Amino acid sequence: MAHPMKLSLALLLCVVGACVARNSEFSIVGYSEEDLSSHDRIVELFERWLAKHQKAYASFEEKLHRFEVFKDNLKHIDEINREVTSYWLGLNEFADLTHEEFKAAYLGLSPPPARRSSSSRSFRYEDINAGDLPKSVDWRKKGAVTDVKNQGQCGSCWAFSTVAAVEGINAIMTGNLTALSEQELIDCSVDGNNGCNGGMMDYAFSYIASSGGLHTEEAYPYLMEEGSCGDGKKSESEAVAISGYEDVPANDEQSLIKALAHQPISVAIEASGRHFQFYSGGVYDGPCGAQLDHGVAAVGYGSDKGKGHDYIVVKNSWGDKWGEKGYIRMKRGTGKGEGLCGINKMASYPTKDN
Ligand SMILES: *[C@@H]1O[C@H](CO)[C@@H](O)[C@H](O)[C@H]1NC(C)=O
Repeated sequence: MAHPMKLSLALLLCVVGACVARNSEFSIVGYSEEDLSSHDRIVELFERWLAKHQKAYASFEEKLHRFEVFKDNLKHIDEINREVTSYWLGLNEFADLTHEEFKAAYLGLSPPPARRSSSSRSFRYEDINAGDLPKSVDWRKKGAVTDVKNQGQCGSCWAFSTVAAVEGINAIMTGNLTALSEQELIDCSVDGNNGCNGGMMDYAFSYIASSGGLHTEEAYPYLMEEGSCGDGKKSESEAVAISGYEDVPANDEQSLIKALAHQPISVAIEASGRHFQFYSGGVYDGPCGAQLDHGVAAVGYGSDKGKGHDYIVVKNSWGDKWGEKGYIRMKRGTGKGEGLCGINKMASYPTKDN
């Protein structure tokens, strides 16, 4: 019992210290100063968290183990919230998972050693004058982004990233915003992709362009596991086709913004940092490296006027309880070519010509 004692003590000392910031954000971060004031209060907090997220464990031993993990995460979250000002972490539904468990379950990008040659494809937004770009763009407000989805414990982020970009260009070109099927990609896009064990957005675009298109989410619903191609299809729907895809020139944020001003873009990032697991809001500015391991979709950009932070709005696939209703604002203009968490390294988008 030495460890719990030590932990409560450490938290208690923090409360005695001058740490009264973020009063208004308690509802977002999921705990208050008082919750950290004693072991009993942390137990109560854990029970409330269990009820809120409808968690149940198979045994009492498992519950005890999860409580230890929860406490360790809580300590981490609170430490970071005291240190960092531009964003904050919270007790979200991942608070009973160790960071190793989280990384193993919720990512799923497997970048090849090098991009497949893209010499045959061009970058259609190359000649856009940067000075003509709007100061901010939000594809959610323009009806080109579907509701946030949840990949669950399957390394299928690549499929969600792909589908978000296809839903976007389809909405822009046809005016019809329809949720499309990730499951179809998991089951059928197997050239280079590996279902719940990872994949790449470019391979998925290539599959969609050559297969005639993707069916709707409703017709081919998500199962969170691999199936055989076509088996998961519940009903017929018209397939949404694309013409092909193009890569955004790597490590060039200006190019990414040019493309993003025209459509939602598939991007890859390093999301395996522990801060990502608990990100709950604000403009994220690290820490993270650029070892790409997660596929997401950039759906806008803008600036936080008060704080002078420029950011890219990113749609994740970890449900709408994570981050800012499922989204994260990631700092741009970091001065590094690869961008924050490598976001400028491997961006691409589907094309749909009429
Ligand atoms: C929108 O597209 C989907 C998929 O192709 C189709 O099933 C649906 O009927 C379309 N809706 C409208 C209003 O055209």
